[in-house]
Amino acid sequence: MLQDTVCVHGAALKDNPTGAVCQPIYQSATFSHPSTDQSTGYDYSRLQNPTRSHLEEMICHLENADDAIAFSTGMAAIANLIELLGSGDKILASHDLYGGTVRLFDNVIANKGILVEYVDTSDLELVVSKIDDATKILFCETLTNPMMNVTDIAGLKKIIGTRDILLAVDNTFLTPYCCNPIELGADVVIHSGSKYLSGHNDTLAGFLVSAHAELSEKLRYISKTLGACLSPFDSYLLIRGIKTLALRMDRSQKSTLKIAEWLSAHPRVNKVFFCGLPSHPGYSVMQKQSKGFGAMISFEVDSQETAKYILNHLQIVTFAESLGGVESLMTYPLTQTHADVPLEKRLQLGINEKLLRFSVGIENPQDLIEDLEQAFPKV
Ligand SMILES: Cc1ncc(COP(=O)(O)O)c(C=O)c1O
Repeated sequence: MLQDTVCVHGAALKDNPTGAVCQPIYQSATFSHPSTDQSTGYDYSRLQNPTRSHLEEMICHLENADDAIAFSTGMAAIANLIELLGSGDKILASHDLYGGTVRLFDNVIANKGILVEYVDTSDLELVVSKIDDATKILFCETLTNPMMNVTDIAGLKKIIGTRDILLAVDNTFLTPYCCNPIELGADVVIHSGSKYLSGHNDTLAGFLVSAHAELSEKLRYISKTLGACLSPFDSYLLIRGIKTLALRMDRSQKSTLKIAEWLSAHPRVNKVFFCGLPSHPGYSVMQKQSKGFGAMISFEVDSQETAKYILNHLQIVTFAESLGGVESLMTYPLTQTHADVPLEKRLQLGINEKLLRFSVGIENPQDLIEDLEQAFPKV
């Protein structure tokens, strides 16, 4: 089955006496046991729930994984992953990451004695120089948020070699429809399911997807203990969203290229960060490791006044945090998604007062371009 069919038929309906076409919502906290030494396979919904299991099977097939665990948010997924580590262990992380991940790494887990070091993971030689005996997780995003930097996942795996280091890849921006990090050597894949997988800006979710049985077992144990599981109803929304993932991604990606080209020619735009432009430094790596370039663009305009003017004048595109939904959203990373990254680091990375991040939805691209055109201050 190809990925677009897996999106629709990724998991078989089980125990389906009615012939229902869609996975029902099993809104039950607990499950009866047929006898003292028998279980239906479902005991208590923190551990397993049939609706959530169906969703997890879909994600598992989409990522060609050993197991997938659904969490209440992407951050819950990352926090569960970090529970694998103890005091003195080190995470070597990409220097450009979603701001919430940086907040978790810098301000929460640092208190447990876990070390975090940041490195530009698009520079493989630099990564090698930062690996030491304490390094237990190498963490990157397939496309970084918000600067759209590209990391060569297979290259990182090669560097790790036989060392006992987990390669963890946040695949939120590309989705399993475009990129399968496990096939490139990742041990664990993270998703904020709140984005493209749900796809409608209407629910939050997260996933940890593991490549090996031993790791799956550890993560299952942690997740059932910490209990940040996805509810049956939200699991249903994710199942429904994933059915159209391929269609939505195809549409948004096509529009994104047009919009990136339009932005590149605008006199008030200094720089466009979109990995689908041949001028992007990660373009050839993207061609190698992804079936698409995604639908996220960041761009720097000529002044803070222009950035604010645009945000205040958009009519179709919504000024809001988040990404990956059918509705196009524009974000101001400096004070929204990345507000908790130290200012000096934000500015160093290019997350400045002129930077806007655009999540291109499924509206007609002509309408989106016209909306941008009227939102820019006249030259
Ligand atoms: C790349 C990335 N990873 C993880 C997260 C966290 O996901 P959530 O908001 O579902 O907790 C986000 C949120 O924006 C993100 O962009």
